[in-house]
Amino acid sequence: MIALGSDHGGFGLKQEVIRYLKERNIPYQDMGCYSEEACDYPVYGKKVAHAVADGECDKGILICGTGIGISIAANKVKGIRAALCHDVFSAQATREHNDANILAMGARVIGPGLALKIVDTFLNTEFSGEERHQNRIDQLEEEG
Ligand code: RB5
Repeated sequence: MIALGSDHGGFGLKQEVIRYLKERNIPYQDMGCYSEEACDYPVYGKKVAHAVADGECDKGILICGTGIGISIAANKVKGIRAALCHDVFSAQATREHNDANILAMGARVIGPGLALKIVDTFLNTEFSGEERHQNRIDQLEEEG
């Protein structure tokens, strides 16, 4: 199950992501927002982050205008590794190296064609499982 979230700035691109998931019969849960009316990205960043951290959803996709605010919000939640990606290489690397569990994107930064390629890469790339990467991920959960 993929948790989806956006603010008003990401609402349009989220509809494209929903179309992508529907076409592939990939189950998803849209946790808002549900229109282009102005709203606050921390609300949706944290909602999706909690759904992933609690194991209710396997991965999350978050979209705001830049992807920055919503990824910062998600990364406040313990166990979340939200990666802001605007290129395919980063989407692949963050799955392989960081085992990122949330993809964040900025709808005002990239177009839907690239965004869907990034989504595809993020969802279809496995964590490498290498010890050095796991060791670094474990360090992320340690207190500052
Ligand atoms: C909303 O105008 C905008 O600030 C938001 O979508 C995002 O870009 C914040 O990081």
